[in-house]
Amino acid sequence: MGDLAAKKEAGEPIVMVTAYDHPSARIVEQAGVDMVLVGDSAAMTVLGYPSTVPVTVDEMLMLTRAVRRGLARPLLVGDLPFGSYEASDETAVATAQRFVKEAGCDLVKIERGGTTVDRARAIVASGIPVVGHVGLTPQTATALGGYRAQGRTAEAAAAVIDDALALQDAGCSLLVVEAVPAEVTAELMRRVRIPVIGIGAGPEADGQVLVLHDLLGVYDGPAAKFVKRYADLRSAALAGVADYAREVRAGEYPAPEHGYGMPEGEAARLRELLAARS
Ligand code: KIV
Repeated sequence: MGDLAAKKEAGEPIVMVTAYDHPSARIVEQAGVDMVLVGDSAAMTVLGYPSTVPVTVDEMLMLTRAVRRGLARPLLVGDLPFGSYEASDETAVATAQRFVKEAGCDLVKIERGGTTVDRARAIVASGIPVVGHVGLTPQTATALGGYRAQGRTAEAAAAVIDDALALQDAGCSLLVVEAVPAEVTAELMRRVRIPVIGIGAGPEADGQVLVLHDLLGVYDGPAAKFVKRYADLRSAALAGVADYAREVRAGEYPAPEHGYGMPEGEAARLRELLAARS
């Protein structure tokens, strides 16, 4: 965590990205990111749910463990799914402890201000560092009027900043700010001391996070305005599988170099052996 504060202090941008499995964990670590979030966006990107709401703690833990096995250096953030921390401080601490004990998370992330501020305080008091998530909070997107930018009026922006400050006061180590106008992030940055990671929140945050499947062009669902595609893996994967199917149908795959042979004379001996049996 000290590294993040030092980067903030030095004005060195913090790079965060999501990952949901072992191979992607290896790739993002090798690419040199600072932090990896096993986001509940996994619900949509890898599990096929229509939103982040249905994903369970057990599903998130399985994905998070796979990422943990692939990471050595970057900090690992576990995302507590909807319904796993809101009811009481005890529930929140118990869920956070599972992410640390069973999946080796360095920090856990929870969404919203309001009662979440108390949950954040309780988790921090139990010895687990917490990331607060404000602005567009997908777990409660319906209550926010859908997946849309937040804080676009002065009052709404002040409410986002108040949530951020309350989470900081509760002891959060880091904030994620999603889908708010750049002006709101600028005001927020003047007021908070802890590092702030933006997603669709303009350039002034201390760092940025993107969903891996969005930035690699794997996910073919609708993309938010802030998504920038750095690769088109879906097209590459589609072309690869279509080529494989065409070659199998054309009898081109497998070629001799893709198979095994028997040592000299063994095929003839096999034929004799089988003939003797019949
Ligand atoms: O679940 C997720 O991937 C997230 C990021 C978008 C911050 O919460």
